Amino acid sequence: MTEHLTIVNHPLVQHKLSIMRNRETSTKSFRQLLREISLLLAYEVTRELPMTTKTVDTPLEPMDAPVLDGKKLALISILRAGNGLLDGVLELIPAARVGFVGLYRDERTLQPIQYYFKVPEDLGDRLVIALDPMLATGNSSAAAVDLLKEAGANNIRFMCLLAAPEGVARMKEAHPDVPIVTAALDSRLNEKGYIVPGLGDAGDRMFGTK
Ligand code: URA
Repeated sequence: MTEHLTIVNHPLVQHKLSIMRNRETSTKSFRQLLREISLLLAYEVTRELPMTTKTVDTPLEPMDAPVLDGKKLALISILRAGNGLLDGVLELIPAARVGFVGLYRDERTLQPIQYYFKVPEDLGDRLVIALDPMLATGNSSAAAVDLLKEAGANNIRFMCLLAAPEGVARMKEAHPDVPIVTAALDSRLNEKGYIVPGLGDAGDRMFGTK
């Protein structure tokens, strides 16, 4: 991907996202819509995957048929909200390897601290797609990508549902080599770090917590 930021302006994505933004939307619908949108975002984030050909015997004759090249993709869920995107992407790419990164924010320093990290082997040989629905300040996303690079990843894409300009700028500064695919770029962050107008806390809305 050459663009640093891709906004998936597809009518289905935008319509589903508008329903997700509505505070009245139930947990069940929110989760279902996130799953549906993640399929459409995954279509975009995998658009330029390298291809090769393989001989396939059709019922009529052999042909050189296009197939994906290289090792299986690695999908990395940034806990916990990343799991909401993961389910949908796995439906589209069921053979992908899966990893998890858990970070929390230290109340005193406001810096992201790692509490869990488990990723597939050979990250350096795979396309790595990091999943987190909300790119807000970008601090935890940038830290997660730091960890993935430390683990050997060198071809990373970041997929989210909503992005704030602050998060996009932070990622561009820290990781200009990591293209971002999102359903929308909202206007700003509020003083608590929420994306505005946004949709609230994505984790709480998909898991029904408060
Ligand atoms: N995380 C969320 O879940 N929502 C936001 O608006 C920002 C970060």
